[in-house]
Amino acid sequence: MLQNKRVVIIGGSSGIGLAAAKLILTQGAEVIIASRSSEKLEKAKAELGGKVISYAVDISNEVQVKAFFETVGRIDHLVVTAAETSGGAFLTSDSVADHKMFENKFWGQYYAVKYGAPLMSHGGSITLFSGVVAYKAMIGSAALSAINAAVATLGRTLALELAPIRVNVISPGIIDTPSRSKMPEAARKQFYSDIAGKLPLKRVGNPEDVAKGIVYLLDNDFVTGTVLHVDGGHTLI
Ligand SMILES: NC(=O)c1ccc[n+]([C@@H]2O[C@H](COP(=O)([O-])OP(=O)(O)OC[C@H]3O[C@@H](n4cnc5c(N)ncnc54)[C@H](OP(=O)(O)O)[C@@H]3O)[C@@H](O)[C@H]2O)c1
Repeated sequence: MLQNKRVVIIGGSSGIGLAAAKLILTQGAEVIIASRSSEKLEKAKAELGGKVISYAVDISNEVQVKAFFETVGRIDHLVVTAAETSGGAFLTSDSVADHKMFENKFWGQYYAVKYGAPLMSHGGSITLFSGVVAYKAMIGSAALSAINAAVATLGRTLALELAPIRVNVISPGIIDTPSRSKMPEAARKQFYSDIAGKLPLKRVGNPEDVAKGIVYLLDNDFVTGTVLHVDGGHTLI
């Protein structure tokens, strides 16, 4: 079903976006990846076998996002995994950093849909990214939980307003991606092991788990306005 489709993945140079690019390429689609760092994009392209086109774009910059889509032209599917998130105690949190996180993860996805949707073919789809902290309250994630909830509800409304373009949202649980590379390795392993112990499926996720969810949403043309939880059952505990 994805044969010869044009799929744009903003955030495709790392983690979930990169895993999605790999899987979507195996289905015969043309894949365009975008993120801020040209270095990361080049590395990702090498990993993907040079079979993709890449663009450097900062999704939090509306002018850049508009110019990016003007360059890209017609698309069939848009996936937005781009985000840089952080956490910390609310009362001592840096409100400037939280604003920046909103710019990046919420406004970035807003701009991507605003300028990407008009280029989409009939039967196209948009997949946005929320996250488990919108559904499962976690200390230290106040701003991120609000961003993730905002993205989820944006997706539901847009599914109605942009139809027949389909709009869906994925809410990943704890997924082992480079997003936590700043965490010391021992602390990261301990965190993963603590979470895994509590989850019904007894492991944290990997980027490929979420990539399969993305392909399902791109492929199934009777699914719109949904939030797909790829989280090992995290919202149940
Ligand atoms: N991993 C988890 O446990 C988890 C849990 C819940 C939700 N999520 C959500 O899942 C999505 C993907 O996360 P991930 O773990 O795959 O993250 P990741 O490995 O850190 O990848 C993030 C990607 O976004 C790009 N990016 C960041 N800021 C950008 C910007 N302003 N403009 C353009 N590109 C930007 C990064 O590349 P550049 O640095 O080159 O820009 C990178 O390609 C995010 O929405 C994240 O919040 C992840």
